[in-house]
Amino acid sequence: MHMLLWIFYLSSYCVLSVNAWYDCPRAVCTSCLSAEIHDAPGVGFDLTPSYGTAVAHYYNGSVVEIAHVQGNSEYLEYMARLVSSPEPQDETKTLPQHIARWLHVSDAWSRKCGRWLLKKLGYSTKDGIEIISDLLRELKDSTEREILQSLDRVAITIPDLSSLRQKTINAALEDLGLRTWLGDSPYYPKRLVEADAVYAANGYGLCKNYRNIFECTDEFEASFASPAVFLVSFSRHLLYTAISTPLYGEALAIVTTDEAQVLDFEFGLDRLFQDDSQALWDRLRQQLLVLPRESEFTVTHIFLAGESATNPRFLAVWKDALSELSPMLSQDSKMTVANSSETLNPTFAAARGAALYSRRRQEVQADCEEPPECEIMRQQGQARSFGKQDL
Ligand SMILES: *[C@@H]1O[C@H](CO)[C@@H](O)[C@H](O)[C@H]1NC(C)=O
Ligand SMILES: *[C@@H]1O[C@H](CO)[C@@H](O)[C@H](O)[C@H]1NC(C)=O
Repeated sequence: MHMLLWIFYLSSYCVLSVNAWYDCPRAVCTSCLSAEIHDAPGVGFDLTPSYGTAVAHYYNGSVVEIAHVQGNSEYLEYMARLVSSPEPQDETKTLPQHIARWLHVSDAWSRKCGRWLLKKLGYSTKDGIEIISDLLRELKDSTEREILQSLDRVAITIPDLSSLRQKTINAALEDLGLRTWLGDSPYYPKRLVEADAVYAANGYGLCKNYRNIFECTDEFEASFASPAVFLVSFSRHLLYTAISTPLYGEALAIVTTDEAQVLDFEFGLDRLFQDDSQALWDRLRQQLLVLPRESEFTVTHIFLAGESATNPRFLAVWKDALSELSPMLSQDSKMTVANSSETLNPTFAAARGAALYSRRRQEVQADCEEPPECEIMRQQGQARSFGKQDL
């Protein structure tokens, strides 16, 4: 073989061998998912630093935007604290570890008990898990009312803050009796960041064969694409921008982190209107340009998201900033226009990506591959139950 081709093969092998264990064939499942689980709606939440949204993605492909819940002042303060501190915050109130172990109690119970004790001792402030749980509870309740069944599992997108740990989110879910689709299996992602979810919700980076995790990734490795996704999320309370670079262009893949981000509570829409100073709007415009200007990546995709992204004055500033950006973009970069009818509602874009991820996971087992007979069995099961209804 040609020398260069060998070098090329070797170097791509080195890249791939990082994930080599991950390419091993998986065990064949010994049982099949029930149709009830397989066909259940996928539910996605988007937890932003100031509000949360919920979306359900049904098996038949229908997508419903369910709820948009503002964080209370406690939530906003907590998030502002996370943004200003790069260190993970571990402020959970639990029973001391050794006591919990001795009592053989679950983490959730230990948290409940620890909080109860502290309340008795006169401490009334909530910990981060409780604060997040409060917001998630509202999303959960609205979702259950919409899908007419109890909610068991969700995927949640979160801002890519080093101080916000997936463990905290998962504990908040656990306190509500919910399980997560993130970090539940070594084959699937531990974290879902907003930029990646919005990229997926807009139809990019989605493999066809999602039932087989390796074939899914293989669909992308051949392309050698290297997109850089620029997300601008604008809300009443803050501006959040991020650049992420999905490996080979695959969305919802096992590694999803942002390369760089700006998170600024100074530039929320509320504040901009309250102060109504041109100088503040000008600074917002500068903030919009920071990442693409400084990034080593050439932006290939641009998405607007967030509850205030359709505000006309913001859009005007955004369009103006874009004109300055265009020389820095790749020739054929893809953008969403926030107000056209065929684009997604930016408030729900990230939750849609998360719901899509849940929907896909609903059809596969985490640690094994279903044999083809499973699908046949499910269809027969359905045929039987249809038969009963007909009688
Ligand atoms: C899909 O299923 C949902 C829930 O059962 C239903 O409300 C919706 O109308 C269905 N959509 C289509 C296109 O069949
Ligand atoms: C959407 O954007 C276009 C182009 O900027 C503008 O002309 C139009 O008025 C906007 N429509 C709405 C409903 O805001």
